[in-house]
Amino acid sequence: MTRAAQPAFTLRAGALCCEDVPLAEIAARFGTPTYVYSRRAIEAAYGAYAHALAGRDALLCFAIKANSNLAVLNLLARLGAGFDIVSGGELARVLAAGGDARKTVFSGVGKTTVEIAQALAADILCFNVESAAELDMIETVAAQLGKRAPVSLRVNPDVDPNTHPYISTGLRENKFGVAYADAVALYRRAAASRHLEVVGIDCHIGSQITALAPYVDAADRVLDLVDALARTGIRLRHVDFGGGLGIRYRDEEPPAPGALVRALTDRMAARGHADKTLLLEPGRSLVGAAGALLTRVTLLKPGPAKNFAVVDAAMNDLLRPTLYDAWMDVQPVQPRSAEPIRYDVVGPVCESGDWLARDRELALAAGDLLAVLGAGAYGMSMASNYNSRPRAAEVMVDGASVYLVRRREQIEELFAGESVLP
Ligand code: LLP
Repeated sequence: MTRAAQPAFTLRAGALCCEDVPLAEIAARFGTPTYVYSRRAIEAAYGAYAHALAGRDALLCFAIKANSNLAVLNLLARLGAGFDIVSGGELARVLAAGGDARKTVFSGVGKTTVEIAQALAADILCFNVESAAELDMIETVAAQLGKRAPVSLRVNPDVDPNTHPYISTGLRENKFGVAYADAVALYRRAAASRHLEVVGIDCHIGSQITALAPYVDAADRVLDLVDALARTGIRLRHVDFGGGLGIRYRDEEPPAPGALVRALTDRMAARGHADKTLLLEPGRSLVGAAGALLTRVTLLKPGPAKNFAVVDAAMNDLLRPTLYDAWMDVQPVQPRSAEPIRYDVVGPVCESGDWLARDRELALAAGDLLAVLGAGAYGMSMASNYNSRPRAAEVMVDGASVYLVRRREQIEELFAGESVLP
């Protein structure tokens, strides 16, 4: 637990380091832009959940969408994690990383029949079913394959997580989950099917949540349904309260994983459900603080209204600032003592929305290195090739060692699958 208290990125002798490695060394060796992850920070974040869950029947399913690098998945698999996937591609990554399909839950509103068949063949833990139509599809595919599909309904508890509208998912107007009022009838249908096996119940109310109250509200709503189902003779093995725990980007004060786990397990015990397996699907809180995007200042561009620091990373590498107006901490890798100037830190992409940070006081010169902190979640996993930019390299630091865990994409790879007309 003491390891969790030590941040992954610290200033040592005037140089920003990841664990024991100066970021400047990583830039010299691997170039920029590069995502840098701390093994120790990922292990500490996982440990914080695992410690609070010790002695309890529980499973942490890492939401792969937050960071799908094989090294990250493999590290978590070695720690005992399961996975929350939302596509056939993510299932393939779990298997390639040595993850356990039997510890994998499959969420998402638009699973295709091909993906459903793949997941059944892999023998996943369960489908988190998001609609009546999907339940029918799963039943049909399972019947064709002569299998019984394990299902858990993702119910929409209609609870406001008080987060950015793009990342709240458990409100009535969101596309996610089965409407609360329809859940019992749908469970009865599933329970009556020879090709479906009801195993659990699931909810996910949003992401970057910084308070416990919405979780406890959602948990109560879900446990009400568990009780209602028990009255109709349907017993569940697990309850899954989703992911969504926030991290500190600026001054947020999210609850610690242990506090979340305690709030949920207390609620389960108080309501007589201590016997159920508890599943959680954290993404951001396991990897967010463990990663930084390392970038180099290409040039400085003073202007009449704003000063721009143009860097070699852009919105295609890190979409969060422009998509969610997200504030992410930008730190110089080798801080200068000069007087700071106010800059917008922008990339070279041809969009005014291509910014990583705005109005930051920084002392900079062309060629300087910057680190965007808190970029371990929803950074590389949301990267694109917009403006025909190859995707960044990814490295993982372990103490004083650095491992390249994804080489920088080559330009030729960008159009390798394309062809011209005959
Ligand atoms: N489970 C389900 C069903 C989800 O939809 C999500 C995230 C998670 C688990 C993991 O949530 P987390 O623990 O990471 O909050 N790209 C956005 C976040 C989108 C989250 C979508 N769902 C961002 O960069 O803020």
